Amino acid sequence: MSESSALDTLYREAAAAHLQPLWVETHRFVPRQPAPPNVLAQWKASAVKDLLEVAGEHMPVEHADRRVFVCTNPNLPPFSGTTQTLYACVQLLLPGEKAPPHRHTQSAFRLILEGSGAQTILNGAPVTMNQGDFVITPAWTWHGHANPGNQSVLWLDGLDNAVMRLFDATFFELPPPDLHHDAPERSSARQWVYPLASMRSALEHLRATTPADPVHGWRVRYIDPQTGRDPLPTMAAFISLLPSGFRGAPYRSTDSTVYVPLEGQGELICGGERMPWGPHDILAVPTWQAHQLNCDSESLVFSFSDRAAQERLECWREERLADDIKRAGTSGTSGTTGTTGTTGVSDATGTAGTAGNADNADNADNAGSAGGSAV
Ligand SMILES: [Fe+2]
Repeated sequence: MSESSALDTLYREAAAAHLQPLWVETHRFVPRQPAPPNVLAQWKASAVKDLLEVAGEHMPVEHADRRVFVCTNPNLPPFSGTTQTLYACVQLLLPGEKAPPHRHTQSAFRLILEGSGAQTILNGAPVTMNQGDFVITPAWTWHGHANPGNQSVLWLDGLDNAVMRLFDATFFELPPPDLHHDAPERSSARQWVYPLASMRSALEHLRATTPADPVHGWRVRYIDPQTGRDPLPTMAAFISLLPSGFRGAPYRSTDSTVYVPLEGQGELICGGERMPWGPHDILAVPTWQAHQLNCDSESLVFSFSDRAAQERLECWREERLADDIKRAGTSGTSGTTGTTGTTGVSDATGTAGTAGNADNADNADNAGSAGGSAV
């Protein structure tokens, strides 16, 4: 038998035994670099809000459980989410409404976009949510929502659904009728709410003491002051202050990232596409895609990603690209190439590093009183 026919026989018999030779098409077992299944995508705030308001008229929250729209990436199958790991959702709770409690193994957070005075009830204890607050719901925490005020409240939900699905570790539970919460469940020292005012003060401290980072501007990472780590184990969250006319240097990283501008306006450039953004738009950037943030006026940009999980798995990488991204049609920021004063990357912004040299939460400088750390 010739060598080739012997191998043909080997492969045929191996396939019948559900065995695949690693040496054939090795790159399909171990890709040389990330190849994200999702694409750059954007959800405009006005469109999302309009649809949520219609849902508010026709879908009572007691029927919906949660009145939520999930931002579904156009290149992913239904129910896959916003990126291959993350869900970004927008939720509306009208005055007087209550969303009943449940719990699940997904970690979640809320970032309040509009309105104040709603509550999230964590293990039976109400936590008031005001505009701009970042509020965590750790995995397997009972949580319901209530809006005792007189204004509609709209917020961003961030979840690690797809991470749990990868592990096939998703559990969801409704409360038993006799559910009783022991006080110690909520009386731990864990920080549940990160007010915007505290994050802003940490950013202002950075602005006063540190040059803006060429990629991220002045950026603060949400850090649990008790642990020095991300408030949730899979997702990292950040808030950036971008000076007027900021023209971000091109950058890529292995964490798929969702940007949600809170104030200001600008554009995201990625893969030759230019996406203008304004407050509360949602933009999803796939892994390892070079992109840059520009802004026309001073802007505040929230973002979250799966970086926390990747750092724990020791696979997170970033790369600051020397060559500029082609700026097709960037008239929105023409003449505003101002990154004046952004020479170099300061230690305080903590993002100086080469690919594979992660700056994790453990060594980030604590820059604020809100549990925020400069990253
Ligand atoms: Fe939930």
